[in-house]
Order: sequence, then structure tokens, then C-alpha cells
Amino acid sequence: MADTEKTFVAIKPDGVQRGLVGEIIGRFEKRGLKLVGLKLLKVPQEMAEKHYGEHKGKPFFEGLVSFITSGPIVAMVWEGKGAIALTRTIIGSTNPAQAAPGTIRGDLALDIGRNVVHASDGPESAPREIGIFFNNNEVIGCWSRNIDPWVVEQPLTCASK
Ligand code: RTP
Ligand code: MG
Repeated sequence: MADTEKTFVAIKPDGVQRGLVGEIIGRFEKRGLKLVGLKLLKVPQEMAEKHYGEHKGKPFFEGLVSFITSGPIVAMVWEGKGAIALTRTIIGSTNPAQAAPGTIRGDLALDIGRNVVHASDGPESAPREIGIFFNNNEVIGCWSRNIDPWVVEQPLTCASK
């Protein structure tokens, strides 16, 4: 059984500009994931370079940093069973041209440089990226939803976390 995980997701400046915030948040909510952190911010240059540090030196790095700092983003932490891999499935392939219909990128985007959403790509990047965008007290450590038993057969209780 997959563990309960937290992962970092962001609606990029194109998603905010295009009025897709509600649509994108709704997809994660409807899947059953739990929102445990949320903020709107304009990403400073230094934060963008840290977040995308793994891509430093690649030909698209400067354009990527310039894009991600170009307008407000919506930064989020989502929690749920297997949330890290699941959010990657929900957002779809990096290049929207290859993203499956039904995924966020496959339904809402066309271009690799305007792919509307980011999600952490693994168990190492998720806590690293959450730590870049959120202070500890900005992520809700434990909140129970009344619907949890309707989403997961054996939901975690707060005391067991
Ligand atoms: P992200 O980090 O933004 O969620 O995207 P990702 O994991 O699906 O893809 P990643 O390999 O981490 O690339 C980060 C972003 O860089 C842009 N990119 N452009 N022109 C290119 O070949 C290229 N490759 C990547 C994309 O905007 C991608 O989201
Ligand atoms: Mg990535």
C-alpha cells in the first residue's frame, strides 16, 4: 500500500494569467488529494534558480527562470496516498504535445515552455521544493476531512502521523 505523502505543486504564471487556477485546483481536489498548503506569490529570481537548480546549464534554463518569475504563481502542498507519483500522473508529460488527454497538460496546454503546472518529480524533490516555498508553520500538519473515509479505506488519524 502506498504511503501518505506530501508533494509540491505550482500553477505557473501562464495558468494564473489564463484563469485556470480554479480548474487546476479542482482536479487535485476531485481526485481526493488533500490541500495542506497554499499561497499566491511572485517568485524572486534567486528562489526560481534554486527551485530549478537541477536544470542550470541547460539551454532552456534562462527562459524557464524568466518565465517562472514573470507573474504570480499559486504554490501548493497536496497530501495523499502516493501523492508524489499521483500528481505527476495528473499533470501529464512535460511536453503537452505528448501529454495524454485527461491530464492537466494534455487538456489545457500546447507548448513545453507554457505547460501551466509544476509538480515535484520524486521523494527527494518533494520535501526540498516544499521547503523552498513554505515555512513549516504554513503547511497544515494534520487536518481531518469528514470525507476521508470515503476517499481512503483506512485513512490516517492525526494522532498516528
Ligand atoms: P516541471 O519541473 O516544471 O514540473 O516540469 P517537468 O518536471 O515535467 O520537466 P523538467 O524536466 O523538470 O523541466 C522543467 C521545465 O523546463 C521546461 N523544459 N523545456 N525545451 C526543452 O527541451 C525543455 N525541457 C524542459 C519545461 O517548461 C519544463 O516544465
Ligand atoms: Mg521538473
